[in-house]
Amino acid sequence: MISLSDLRQFKQQGRRFSCLTCYDASMAKAMEVAEIDSILIGDSLGMTVQGHDSTLPVNVADMAYHTANVRRGNQHSFIMTDLPFMSYATLNDALINAKTVMQAGAQMIKIEGGAWLSETVATLTRNGIPVCVHLGLTPQSVHVFGGYKLQAKTRDAADQLIADCKAVVEAGAAVLLLECVPAQLGKEITELFPTVPVIGIGAGADTDGQVLVVQDMLGLTFGKVARFVRNFMKEQSGETAIVDAFKAYHAAVQDQSFPAKEHMFQVEL
Ligand code: KIV
Repeated sequence: MISLSDLRQFKQQGRRFSCLTCYDASMAKAMEVAEIDSILIGDSLGMTVQGHDSTLPVNVADMAYHTANVRRGNQHSFIMTDLPFMSYATLNDALINAKTVMQAGAQMIKIEGGAWLSETVATLTRNGIPVCVHLGLTPQSVHVFGGYKLQAKTRDAADQLIADCKAVVEAGAAVLLLECVPAQLGKEITELFPTVPVIGIGAGADTDGQVLVVQDMLGLTFGKVARFVRNFMKEQSGETAIVDAFKAYHAAVQDQSFPAKEHMFQVEL
């Protein structure tokens, strides 16, 4: 089973790693067969599984239920689980809710925010819970942003995001996840932290890992699809099509053919 030390080693070796969201045992098994490095039980399940229009209605019991299902189906990939909206607003809530998803099978929890999470990150880490901090476009704050939009578009905003990354890394964050930021900023942040793996979604080609929502990359998202998505199912056929799409994604992340220029946000900072 892939561990946090493996992700750190991948970074040191310059070996890019693949990550996909997953919510159930059969998809998890298909990802095991395809040797996907890492799985995120994302609170995106509020949209993809539950049919809501945001991640806000998701609760901790949902996250634990889907984490346990995924872990039973996959003994290969490193598993991260989101703490959902308002479930880490106090240190006590963060500890109790992180315990629930870790006991369900997560190897790391993910929380959304910036420097203000430093105490939460330090407390969780001290208690044996590795933390990934998700920065940039953080979907739990969609109503603060006023929509799902590119973040850190100016040098000042980019510097603020870098300061947030430094604060949470100092507090103990073991992995960073950057969503929807200029490709140049994804590169700068990845290079700034030699021992902290950085995962990107819409953050350019230079992050250590890439993540996509599984429904997006299988072409199961109807309506508008984000610029950073590539449909890996289009190129497949036959009864192994889903596993083949996962294998193609893993290979494209490793050989850096994904993300390509058309999946990135190119803003001069
Ligand atoms: O919940 C989720 O699926 C996520 C990804 C978009 C990174 O946080």
